[in-house]
Amino acid sequence: AARTPLIAGNWKMHKTVEEAEAFIQALLPRVATFDSVDVGICPPFTSLQAMVDSARGSIVRVYAQNMHYADQGAFTGEVSAPMLSELDVHGVILGHSERREYFGETDKALALKVPKALEAGLEPILCVGETEEERERGDTERKLRHQIQEDLAKVPEDRLADVVIAYEPIWAIGTGLTATPEQAQEACAFVRALVGQRSEDAAQRVRVLYGGSMKADNAAELLALPDVDGGLVGGASLEAEPFSTIVGAAS
Ligand code: G3H
Repeated sequence: AARTPLIAGNWKMHKTVEEAEAFIQALLPRVATFDSVDVGICPPFTSLQAMVDSARGSIVRVYAQNMHYADQGAFTGEVSAPMLSELDVHGVILGHSERREYFGETDKALALKVPKALEAGLEPILCVGETEEERERGDTERKLRHQIQEDLAKVPEDRLADVVIAYEPIWAIGTGLTATPEQAQEACAFVRALVGQRSEDAAQRVRVLYGGSMKADNAAELLALPDVDGGLVGGASLEAEPFSTIVGAAS
């Protein structure tokens, strides 16, 4: 397919600036020879500037893990899209299940955040996915449909393909329980079909990632699936190795 795979490492709340610097210095030589793959790292806010500076000129792009939908205002503790673009940050994770679960992130807020990120020139990585309970009672597609419809509602058709969508079954996040290739393919194809209800062209171009216990030893199998265009990697992105092995599996 014409879709360039993206492997993005979501560090969550890990790494000081010093640790982030050590990581990027170890990663850059390991990924220097890869092409036809986009590499992202998603550090905490405090390391964004340092990572943008250190990654400049390489294939590594830097993403934030969250942002507010307003440009500025009385929102203590929040960071806006223009503030991220000013740092030359490439994109931003939006709607990670941890933000939805622990910080009350709603589909209503995400419907404002996704278009705001695009307007500011940021590439959003929108996360969607079902809980174990939802999967067991057969509600996986209903949950994905609800999240995709709500969160992308205000994105104009001609920008839909600029959103990256990460399918992350919540029961697979940080649990070591990876979705089977069949489950990952089925859900990612369904996500693409949902985009296709708005625009068939966007559906062909939009990148759909899989996330949830992606590791060096299962990445190749998942990345070979026709509707999986990359991975959002948590635990296995915290060290240059295995992260660079996963990048290699996509290139
Ligand atoms: O954003 C990344 C996902 O939450 C996956 O995390 O690879 O540690 O399961 P994990």
